[in-house]
Amino acid sequence: MSKIHAAITGIGGYVPEYILTNEELSTMVDTTDEWIMSRIGIKERRILKEENKATSDLAVKAIEQLLEKTNTKPEEIDLLICATVTPDLQFPATANIISDKLGLVNAYSFDMNVGCSGFVFALNTASKHIEAGANKKVIVVGAEKMSSIVDYTDRNTCAIFGDGAGAVLVEPSTEGVGVLDTILGIDGAGRKHLHQKAGGSLKPASHKTVDAREHYIYQEGQPVFKLAVTKMADVSVEIMKNNNLSTEDIAWLVPHQANMRIIDATANRMGLKDRTKVMINIQKYGNTTAATIPLCLLDYEKQIKKGDKIILAAFGAGFSWGAIYLKWAY
Ligand code: UT7
Repeated sequence: MSKIHAAITGIGGYVPEYILTNEELSTMVDTTDEWIMSRIGIKERRILKEENKATSDLAVKAIEQLLEKTNTKPEEIDLLICATVTPDLQFPATANIISDKLGLVNAYSFDMNVGCSGFVFALNTASKHIEAGANKKVIVVGAEKMSSIVDYTDRNTCAIFGDGAGAVLVEPSTEGVGVLDTILGIDGAGRKHLHQKAGGSLKPASHKTVDAREHYIYQEGQPVFKLAVTKMADVSVEIMKNNNLSTEDIAWLVPHQANMRIIDATANRMGLKDRTKVMINIQKYGNTTAATIPLCLLDYEKQIKKGDKIILAAFGAGFSWGAIYLKWAY
């Protein structure tokens, strides 16, 4: 019997309606459209404004679309993995809340907290479950309400992030398509440059932590930028080498959408001069953390062909980084 690979067989996504433009941001902090476009490459981002709505609500909308597009019933799903750094609650897992809201009665589920690399790590985990024969219909969703941890008085971070969710259905295939190789890495020492100071067991929430604005993203942009450029490029080049792939072989690079300059550096290091092969939607959604890669796949879905060789690449909090080489299944 030919080897079982885990193939993406559908994509769904959702972004909230509210558009936060660079013009509106420049009324909130000392910034300009020109600075944000030239240093990051983001024009606007989506924000979940409705009260009492959370990350799970974004994920539910993305998965509803996915189930409809793939003609799948909620009870057919046997595993749901949610990649997020903005869970609805400290516990239980947001994946369990999503399962409850959608009626995934035959699935077990869990969250993965791997920052902007979350989708790549979660897709790898899903593919191992499928290759082992343990699961047949797995949903991987990257979902984030980043606006819940962004400090809109801090110009260093508030222009970067947006809200959204992207989900894929993953199923076994013996046609030689699906996830063919993965490289993952982490460096926990990088946490000093990118973290949320309070709200965990180290520093539980208190009046003091709220007054000190410690429940927001803390990021030192430059060290994160430097390592993101190196690691995302390195891991993408390494996965090409491991699989004897030339730039001509690659149909698509799907990079995490953190900064246009990081995307450019990665494509350059891979020798991908043809930028039409690089999926980019950072200008309209910003950095939606674990949701960027599936939201990109959704935007470009109609252009992807069966058998296309695709590299997914990410870098984020942790530090964490990873690349997946896959062949498109439909
Ligand atoms: O996905 C998770 C991983 N995160 C990332 O990949 C983010 C990586 N880092 C970056 O993308 C960039 O470092 C940033 C976009 C965050 C910052 O860009 P930069 O070119 O590294 O700028 P910088 O931090 O070196 O700051 C340069 C100047 C500073 O002013 P001074 O000190 O030179 O007077 C900043 O205060 O730009 C200033 N600045 C801004 N000015 C206008 C920072 N943010 C803004 C802003 N508008 N929004």
